[in-house]
Amino acid sequence: MDRRRIVLVGYGNVGKALVDMLAEVDPEGKRFLFSAVCSRSIGVAELRDLPAAKVDKKLKMLGGDEGAYNPEQRVADIKAYLKEGDFDILVELTSADYETAEPALSYIMIALERGIDVVTCNKAPIALAMKDLKEAASRTNASLKFESTVMDGTPVFSMFKSLPPVKLMKIRGVFNSTTSIIIDTMREGKNFTQGMKKVKGLGVAETDPDNDLSGMDAAAKLIILCNGLAGSQLKFSDIIMETITEPMIKEVISKVKNDKCIRVRQVASADFENKVFRVGLEVLKPEDMLFSCTGATNAAIFSMDLFGELVIAERDPTLRETAFGIYSDIVDLYSKETCYY
Ligand SMILES: NC(=O)c1ccc[n+]([C@@H]2O[C@H](COP(=O)([O-])OP(=O)(O)OC[C@H]3O[C@@H](n4cnc5c(N)ncnc54)[C@H](OP(=O)(O)O)[C@@H]3O)[C@@H](O)[C@H]2O)c1
Repeated sequence: MDRRRIVLVGYGNVGKALVDMLAEVDPEGKRFLFSAVCSRSIGVAELRDLPAAKVDKKLKMLGGDEGAYNPEQRVADIKAYLKEGDFDILVELTSADYETAEPALSYIMIALERGIDVVTCNKAPIALAMKDLKEAASRTNASLKFESTVMDGTPVFSMFKSLPPVKLMKIRGVFNSTTSIIIDTMREGKNFTQGMKKVKGLGVAETDPDNDLSGMDAAAKLIILCNGLAGSQLKFSDIIMETITEPMIKEVISKVKNDKCIRVRQVASADFENKVFRVGLEVLKPEDMLFSCTGATNAAIFSMDLFGELVIAERDPTLRETAFGIYSDIVDLYSKETCYY
């Protein structure tokens, strides 16, 4: 059977969760092998096509020379490896930089220009450069897949692919678990810091949690949905963003008190007809479908010309759900040629 060789760039919370999932579903590496794992602290660890189940142990054996830690040199080494290395799929899972999307954007572009398929969960390159990346992919007949950039493992983009052409009228959703958990923790009478500690323990915060609070994370997801599903050309400057602060949460909570029939959430919305795109706090009542977003739950409502309202949700996502989204994309690439179910 044809085995696919993966280069993984980014071995943080999500990278490790993906390796764990592949070790669970394909312990002997009958379908997927790791050619290399790269990050700023690891550099390029060439694994010479190891099954996922052996990756973590091998990386620990290789260790790292902390004295030689030099992020700029490491990034240059990774780019050089991506230009020359022999592998089939780049899985890009590094932290998001919403200013430049670099160096993730370069990593992805290098692979696509070589005709190598790419799977990423990094919102920055997709939100900032989806059009350029898709054009590069189509020039070389490579695939670019980014299902887990929005709602982790929920099949949003693949679901839309299964629908006939529709016109999106509105999108409204809760897309950021970090703010949901902080708000609920504060409603329980605890403070902001305790809420953030809980989020970090779950591994669902952005590498820089300011991106959750400023609305950048949710705005990036909204841009990816609008540009990816409705053909918009939205930029961050088109989104009205409200930064969530501790005093702001306190003020809203004091107004709703302990009313169990009210939920407070960061909501992202797109109204295509009126061209209004925003991310901000909303007070939700039970008749609102988004009221069902308890805990870390995310949900999206899509209003369409041929279908009233389609609601899709993921209950309390964890890193496993994100890994599932990446795994689904990898399998989808693989099943272009081989059906193994
Ligand atoms: N956590 C979630 O629930 C979730 C859900 C969906 C999407 N995402 C997205 O997934 C990505 C990874 O999230 P995470 O939680 O795994 O973050 P993380 O734990 O902070 O890990 C980030 C990884 O990326 C590496 N990295 C950062 N900048 C790099 C660079 N310039 N070159 C090479 N490697 C670099 C880091 O390497 P060093 O540590 O060696 O510097 C680390 O291995 C982010 O883009 C995030 O937005 C996360």
